Amino acid sequence: MNALIVLLPGDGIGPEVAAEAHRVLQRIAERFGHHFAFQTHLIGGCAIDAVNDPLPPDTINACRESQAILLGAVGGPKWDDPTAKIRPEQGLLRIRKELGLFANLRPIRPQPSLLDASPLRREIVEGTDILFVRELTGGIYFGDSGLRGLPDGSELAFNTMTYTTGEIERVVRLAAKAAMQRRKKLTMVDKANVLEASRLWRRVSERLVKSEFPELDYDVVLVDAMAMHLIARPSAFDVVVTENLFGDILTDEGAMLPGSLGLLPSASLGDGGPGLYEPIHGSAPDIAGQGLANPLATILASAMLLRHSLGLEEEAANIERAVAGVLETGARTKDIARSGEQWVSTTRMGDLVIEALSG
Ligand code: IPM
Ligand code: MN
Repeated sequence: MNALIVLLPGDGIGPEVAAEAHRVLQRIAERFGHHFAFQTHLIGGCAIDAVNDPLPPDTINACRESQAILLGAVGGPKWDDPTAKIRPEQGLLRIRKELGLFANLRPIRPQPSLLDASPLRREIVEGTDILFVRELTGGIYFGDSGLRGLPDGSELAFNTMTYTTGEIERVVRLAAKAAMQRRKKLTMVDKANVLEASRLWRRVSERLVKSEFPELDYDVVLVDAMAMHLIARPSAFDVVVTENLFGDILTDEGAMLPGSLGLLPSASLGDGGPGLYEPIHGSAPDIAGQGLANPLATILASAMLLRHSLGLEEEAANIERAVAGVLETGARTKDIARSGEQWVSTTRMGDLVIEALSG
């Protein structure tokens, strides 16, 4: 297969982890006889430095031409001034919106060999296998917002959570389809006891599931309760679908179940067109450039890329097995090493996964 893959390494540890995933994809291409062409472009803080735009036209044009996009991370203290008009995160929000990437898939499946790395007890985490589907191009992230001065000299700011029937339907449908391929259980998370937007989610979602996916075991949970269930009984959930901001918060919470943010990939998908794949973690500027970053989340994101954008299931599974195998041998980057335990560098971890791929 021929494919054009755009690499957006970004800021902080982004370039280091993206480089390892790039090497893994090159090895997969060699092994399975594919031709992957790679193009590297700017996004985030480095793009602001270079051209004063966190998502330059060159980048978005290249993405539109590609089959898939692999992103490292964006942001860092250098661009963190909260009063700044131009911010790295805008690059990420714009690429999601411009490519219509309305569904963000965040699988949370602790690695068996790392169960003791979780801050929760093994018996709570064991058996957890959740697929979060977060709505990604609507809600309070993109609704009306404003800031104005008041007569008394103080200020007023607002953001609004806005959803249309269509925006809810398409992401719930995608989540329901995913659930049909898994354990056929779908949980919709909202705040329908308070928010009008959530009440629309509840009606639209229930109607859609009842008419199109009657076989699903479907339930609804309020977001505050979900925050609690997620750490009290994570193994009770299969697919969880929710709006943008709730999904942002709950997936960071869920990401702690496997013990480190450094292990979790994500995929942002639209209706056709290229998907965007990235680790869940941020740019971790405090450890950038020191070989301390864990490349496994980005490597696992490249597996999702092969599966969801290129339809290469066997190749994707090959990477996932290699990662699990390397962890089983006891290899650890610093984030997942126990105190006193030996750990390996970012590139060494990449080497180990590549060696395991050939096995
Ligand atoms: C994420 C991040 C982004 C978000 C930020 C960096 C804009 O936290 O992908 O979860 O809030 O969506
Ligand atoms: Mn987030």
